[in-house]
Amino acid sequence: MSKILVAANWKMNGSKSFVSDFIREIASNYNQEHYHKLLICPPFPYLDQVSKGLSKTDIQIGAQDIAQFENGAYTGEVSAEMLSDNDCKYVLVGHSERRTILGEKDHIISEKFNMAIKKNLVPILCIGETHDQKEKSLTEEIIDSQITAIADGIDLDKHSKFIIAYEPIWAIGSGLSATPEDAQDVHEFIRYIIKKISKELAESTQILYGGSVNINNAKKLFSMPDIDGGLIGGASLDSSGFLAIAKQ
Ligand code: 13P
Repeated sequence: MSKILVAANWKMNGSKSFVSDFIREIASNYNQEHYHKLLICPPFPYLDQVSKGLSKTDIQIGAQDIAQFENGAYTGEVSAEMLSDNDCKYVLVGHSERRTILGEKDHIISEKFNMAIKKNLVPILCIGETHDQKEKSLTEEIIDSQITAIADGIDLDKHSKFIIAYEPIWAIGSGLSATPEDAQDVHEFIRYIIKKISKELAESTQILYGGSVNINNAKKLFSMPDIDGGLIGGASLDSSGFLAIAKQ
């Protein structure tokens, strides 16, 4: 069985009819023998529809965000328990769109990450540098600070279960993916940072690449030793294209 995880981040896209077409195509063609593992992260209102539609498959469901609070008077927020109630096992945390457009800061991301772990959800921590930071050769410094900001507030050990998604901001939605070799270098660096917490954790933690992954570049990216799969935006909205990316 493949170790590679192919995750769809639909962002703020979709409708009931889109979801029902997507599910029909995926549910009738997907099997774990011939495809990588799949995870779908729809917008909150479609979690239930996706979860019911895929209940007879091995496909996992994730959310795109989580409240840092348990429950109570937090208008508009969605709690970890509500996500679990809708069969979510995973949740994206700290996506660059939330950091840059919605102003989410490291301390909030750290609280969300912590809440996910506490409630037995697997957080997928998204990190990555801007184009400007890459040009100034600051990629490793940025990655290090983004991971450290989260790890510092939490007792992580070899049993902690989370995923890291390296998503260079300049590659997201631009059609310009990192080369497999450049992405591999950053993934190797990420593993090196995690090794400072625990060697076992560095070996068990999946590190996904995101940023303009498509049918043409996925296979090469997924063949790199430290790339354990992909987090896919635009190309995940086309069910047959998404399945083609997920084909082993
Ligand atoms: P694209 O695949 O559209 O570049 O988006 C990547 C992403 O942001 C996934 O979280």
